[in-house]
Amino acid sequence: MATLEETAYAEPIGKIDAVITAEIRLCRESDLSGLEWMGLYAQHRGVIRQTFEAQQRGDALMLLAVSAEFPIAQIWIDLKRTDCPRTAEFWAIRTFWPLQGRGIGRRMLWAAEKVIRNLGYVRAELEVERTNKGAVRFYQNPGWIRFENDPMSDVKLRFAKCLQPK
Ligand SMILES: CC(C)(COP(=O)(O)OP(=O)(O)OC[C@H]1O[C@@H](n2cnc3c(N)ncnc32)[C@H](O)[C@@H]1OP(=O)(O)O)[C@@H](O)C(=O)NCCC(=O)NCCS
Repeated sequence: MATLEETAYAEPIGKIDAVITAEIRLCRESDLSGLEWMGLYAQHRGVIRQTFEAQQRGDALMLLAVSAEFPIAQIWIDLKRTDCPRTAEFWAIRTFWPLQGRGIGRRMLWAAEKVIRNLGYVRAELEVERTNKGAVRFYQNPGWIRFENDPMSDVKLRFAKCLQPK
């Protein structure tokens, strides 16, 4: 009798090409455990909570894409940079890994830019590890400009985007 590996079932049996719908909205307290992504970010529980508290104070925003009550993507925004007025810092930018490369991150970036523009910010900045080639390509596309003379450039690259009022 043929082993399983010798049968046709060793090959892919079919393909699923599915559409996902997610709502982009601010983080709620009930989202906090989901942001740990089933343990992957459990060690970040404290910073997740602190950032949520910063959002409650008006110092930060946690923008999420939520599908079936699960946060499939996020961008956190620091609204209180003291060194650069009307400049917001984007961080913790990530898309749930099985859903990467489907345009979700791009839409999140657009949404984050729109939100801060509507709050009167004129510029957004972010940083990325130099070795994170995929993310570097991600930011190079939609009008983000890499800083010149960046003192951190050995390890991290900084990008900025000027936001035109609409
Ligand atoms: C970087 C990240 C947020 C992008 O989100 P995403 O949902 O996968 O991005 P999208 O599908 O919207 O891709 C947008 C564009 O970036 C490009 N891109 C995204 N990830 C890429 C990768 N890993 N390699 C190459 N290109 C990539 C896409 O090709 C696409 O370009 P296009 O619009 O010209 O086709 C996501 O890959 C991620 O969560 N990575 C792990 C965490 C991380 O590194 N975050 C950044 C820290 S600063």
